[in-house]
Amino acid sequence: MPDVILDAAVAVAVGRAHNPEIRDWLVRRRKAGHRNWLYVAQQSEMLRLLVLEAEKENTSNPGAAARDQLASLQQSCLWLAALAEDGDTLSDPDPVAAGLTRAASRVGNDTRIVTDNPGHLERGLPFISLDSAVAEALAACPIPLVDLRAQQDRLRAGLERSLHRVLHHGKFIQGPEIHALEAALAEYVGVEHCIGVSSGTDALLIALMALEIGPGDEVVTTPFSFIATAEMIALVGATAVFADVDPRTGNLDAARLEPAITRRTRAILPVSLYGQCADMTQINQVAQKHQLPVIEDAAQSFGALHRGMKSCALSTIGCTSFFPAKPLGAYGDAGAIFTSDADLARIMRELLNHGQDGHYHHVRLGVNGRMDSMQAAVLREKLSVLDDELTQRQFLADRYSELLQELTGRAGLSLPFVLAENRSAWAQYTIQINHRDRLRQRLLEAGIPSAVHYPMVLFRQPAFQQSVSNCPHSVSLATKVMSLPLHPYLAATTQHTVVEHLKRVLG
Ligand SMILES: Cc1ncc(COP(=O)(O)O)c(C=O)c1O
Repeated sequence: MPDVILDAAVAVAVGRAHNPEIRDWLVRRRKAGHRNWLYVAQQSEMLRLLVLEAEKENTSNPGAAARDQLASLQQSCLWLAALAEDGDTLSDPDPVAAGLTRAASRVGNDTRIVTDNPGHLERGLPFISLDSAVAEALAACPIPLVDLRAQQDRLRAGLERSLHRVLHHGKFIQGPEIHALEAALAEYVGVEHCIGVSSGTDALLIALMALEIGPGDEVVTTPFSFIATAEMIALVGATAVFADVDPRTGNLDAARLEPAITRRTRAILPVSLYGQCADMTQINQVAQKHQLPVIEDAAQSFGALHRGMKSCALSTIGCTSFFPAKPLGAYGDAGAIFTSDADLARIMRELLNHGQDGHYHHVRLGVNGRMDSMQAAVLREKLSVLDDELTQRQFLADRYSELLQELTGRAGLSLPFVLAENRSAWAQYTIQINHRDRLRQRLLEAGIPSAVHYPMVLFRQPAFQQSVSNCPHSVSLATKVMSLPLHPYLAATTQHTVVEHLKRVLG
């Protein structure tokens, strides 16, 4: 069932408490993940109609009663913003209907406007009568792997306000939002410098460039990661040297790190996979012994803790991604770099802006790696709920583990393992299981999506094609890992459905 907008008179009819079935229908739609909207441009019309009704009933304070009724509708409906184009409809004999139609088309092509206005109904779709809307069966709500809608609904007013502010001041590049976000993120992570960049990939690139890593150099890293980790090492001309991972966590095994270090090694680049920090204490010890800088690829672990310290604050440079599905996600590409080294921070700021130290004065070769003001505006809003969402992710991960406990060992199933000194950001809830691809297919047929992070170790990717024999755990994990649907707003019923189906396919 698509989104619905309640036309003013219908909203009034529903708001007046005489329609328990329709209210129930709206509540059920919301619970099933569908959106019901009230159009802001009709708010005064709704209030006017509600006051008229209240006066007819001799209510003592009609204005207050009307506002209460409208407020109660907000439990199942969201406010849909009116934009400038909605006012530019005066050539239509019914500008209100035309404005509503434009607003509906922004929400989605299949959005319906529920109305009892005969003139509106005559126009046909998107207008639809209340009866037809209620009669339309609730389509089965497909379970998304990650659902960003619920979070957007929670933050809508702030997001729209912040984005509009950028639209109006017009400083789309290096606007005030960037500095404000960097300060807030540096404080959150507990490091001196945060530098907003255009993606997690660019964060890695700029960090490697700042450390002057290039041809002839080696960087020790994990082969069990997203391509960007090793890709950026290769892009600066250096060689990625792969060391195996801890089979329980999928993170670089500090014990395997040392044998991979040679006289050419210039840095260590661990990844904090699935939201859990690599064993940074052990990794830092090895790095210190060999006097090597460490870059934490914290693309998946923003908000995670290792020994009480935040991911991104655990190494020479911390790099994170704000790809939309990450624990802290933008509405486009974005990332950030963290360091407490003032020189490195200055160099990285220059690098991300074409090596400039002043206007059109280029002291080094750099890139265009700037974060844009719109993304910074979104991220500031989202940062305000991050801790709450991390708590929720932990709660949901615990519940998955509780529900799945009895299945451990079946088809070799093992649950995520978190080191005692870590608190994961739970970017993913990733189990290990034999015959994974077959099981995933059967889950998909039952409507349960899953993901594989990652199906191929990096040295086997066609772009690398290195013959590496010392990473058996990574190779094995690539055949076994499977991530289940997870986001902070995942409903208990959905989680039970996922687990029930997993039980079924495991026989
Ligand atoms: C481990 C890891 N490193 C780097 C990146 C790259 O981040 P971005 O997509 O923001 O460039 C990702 C993104 O998925 C990642 O998971």
